[in-house]
Amino acid sequence: MHLFLLGAGHVGLVTAVGFVRLGHRVTVADLDEARITDLNQGRPPVFEPGLTESLADGLASGWLVFTTRLNPPPDAPFTFVCVSTPTDADGPLSTVNVEIVVGRLLADAGTGHVIVVRSTLPLDGPGRLAAVAAAAGRADRPSIVTNPEFMREGQALEDFDRPNRVVTGWLEPRDQAAAQAVIDLYAPLGAPSMVADARSVALIKLGSNVFLGTKISFANEMARVADATGADIEAVIAGIGLDPRIGLAFLKPGPGIGGSCLPEQAIAIALQTAALDVEAPLLSAVHRSIAVHEHEIVRRLETLLGGPGSLAGRRIAQLGLAFKADTDDVRESPALALAANLRAAGADVITHDPRAERRAHLADPTLVVASTAMEALRDAEAIIVVTEWAEYGAIDWAAAAAAMPATLIYDTRGIVDVEAARRAGLRVERLGRPGAGQSVAGLGGAGMPAVAGAAGSDA
Ligand SMILES: NC(=O)c1ccc[n+]([C@@H]2O[C@H](COP(=O)([O-])OP(=O)(O)OC[C@H]3O[C@@H](n4cnc5c(N)ncnc54)[C@H](O)[C@@H]3O)[C@@H](O)[C@H]2O)c1
Repeated sequence: MHLFLLGAGHVGLVTAVGFVRLGHRVTVADLDEARITDLNQGRPPVFEPGLTESLADGLASGWLVFTTRLNPPPDAPFTFVCVSTPTDADGPLSTVNVEIVVGRLLADAGTGHVIVVRSTLPLDGPGRLAAVAAAAGRADRPSIVTNPEFMREGQALEDFDRPNRVVTGWLEPRDQAAAQAVIDLYAPLGAPSMVADARSVALIKLGSNVFLGTKISFANEMARVADATGADIEAVIAGIGLDPRIGLAFLKPGPGIGGSCLPEQAIAIALQTAALDVEAPLLSAVHRSIAVHEHEIVRRLETLLGGPGSLAGRRIAQLGLAFKADTDDVRESPALALAANLRAAGADVITHDPRAERRAHLADPTLVVASTAMEALRDAEAIIVVTEWAEYGAIDWAAAAAAMPATLIYDTRGIVDVEAARRAGLRVERLGRPGAGQSVAGLGGAGMPAVAGAAGSDA
């Protein structure tokens, strides 16, 4: 089948190459001409493991086509809308791009066409789409279905191939058959699926992300409580997670929460529940917890360095800018907030990231970014590890120690090779964990259960 897709961003490209692998022909359109030119030369605008290779395969086979023509090809019965939903004056998840695109499709596309909105909608998004449909004034309008994306950046291709669920929403009862037809497109993936009304589906999408954000925020706050009491957060989480009602997934502390989904949706749900006059103190607390945690991480480093004012004039090497490893995405990355908070405290911050330098510079042109981790460490007086890149776990601390005055590493991810760093004469402090080398009481040598999910992970 020929599928049309609008919006050649992270979600659009993953969806496009996924459907090509399922045997469909996919035409992807975007109004960004430079992006389309790059894509036609096999260069994706974002880093996602496997994406460049899948693009090359799709382009070579001729089953994946990129264009700036925004009208669906006549033989394509479905248009997937994957355009951005940016933050505007009213907060995150503006539907302006979605409404423009859907309005145009409602005017131009034939009766049997199915418009599939994959962009994330705010809670009032379905109502807005219903208003666009009413304004189009077509009794024989194309169908409108929502189909939110639940992928994790860094594992997005895998998540398309093996989704934990496929959910579609019908805008009005007349769209129900189309909602089922969209489910049928994913049938070869064998995932659990469900169809519901689009208002419920909007709440499923936001609710899933806010719940995940709540779990990470819980782990982050508990890690700071552990710091204050001398407990070990790894043991604490392992003990809590043994309760099957709770589990371990996404209970891992880190420097904060980032990515294009979780933080913005935590803000969106707070604003939207307030607008709906729904008292929801728990739902509205997540975004505040995220901001407090970013502040407290800097305060902890300051304490480790000697107390208030101790960051002033100090050269701090910050390892990591992406919101998590295996992505170059810095959207809402806690790393950017931490660098800003460190600088606000007077520190001279030099950062590094193996993938995210370009996007970090676009987000904050004043950031100083070293081209290698070693270059960032040279002359550093303290180090904060923020993104869990594998290369930071393999740093040659003996070589680094010879080149820098720093004696303190503050590891917010628990990936530093503590023994190697200690042998090099460095002190390692880890978020929520007792001093390096201190053993965890009561584990009986059984080892720690693996903790699934990652702080800063997106969904
Ligand atoms: N990135 C994620 O991990 C993720 C996960 C799930 C859901 N989402 C949601 O999916 C949507 C897209 O996210 P993304 O990360 O792919 O965004 P993105 O910013 O990477 O890409 C969006 C693309 O849409 C294009 N676009 C905007 N308006 C357009 C228009 N009128 N016509 C054609 N193209 C247009 C932009 O040029 C851009 O290329 C958002 O609603 C986002 O919240 C994102």
